[in-house]
Amino acid sequence: MRGLRTTAVLLGGGAAVLLSLLWMPALLPVASRLQLLPRALLSMASGSSPSQSSPASGSGYIPGSVSAAFVTCPNETVAKEIARAVVEKRLAACVNVIPQITSIYEWKGKIEEDSEVLMMIKTQSSLVPALTDFVRSVHPYEVAEVIALPVEQGNFPYLHWVHQVTKSVSD
Ligand SMILES: *[C@@H]1O[C@H](CO)[C@@H](O)[C@H](O)[C@H]1NC(C)=O
Repeated sequence: MRGLRTTAVLLGGGAAVLLSLLWMPALLPVASRLQLLPRALLSMASGSSPSQSSPASGSGYIPGSVSAAFVTCPNETVAKEIARAVVEKRLAACVNVIPQITSIYEWKGKIEEDSEVLMMIKTQSSLVPALTDFVRSVHPYEVAEVIALPVEQGNFPYLHWVHQVTKSVSD
């Protein structure tokens, strides 16, 4: 993000956001860029300046740029091990380990009922594929559940922190 910061300082306003969108297309999924574009133009028109602490957009958070990923584990030992590893690798900012959930599902033609542990993982959406690959590589299940939902809104300092403490995509 160093390049982006410099641009923002030099230009300010929507122009910087617009420029960064053109310069760093690989950094954002297409959907995020499309959401950002009107905002950048609007910001240019009104002459308002984006906050310097913001990772990429005028009014702060880019909707969907953070995700909450959910992974089920057989027990707390496994969940804590995976949680620690993903935070250490900066694939996630924070993992909540939610104990004692009950899961009912069909597996190989039989209805199963298991006691499991749920992990709620907060990370940058762009890191979800790498997070998924890592979880698959260490998870004891034949088919590990890894699902992610985009975070549309929230407390900006928290969402900004998620960006700060996780890997940048170019790492
Ligand atoms: C947790 O699950 C793992 C993988 O299924 C298993 O090897 C381990 O024995 C379990 N640990 C406990 C404390 O149940």
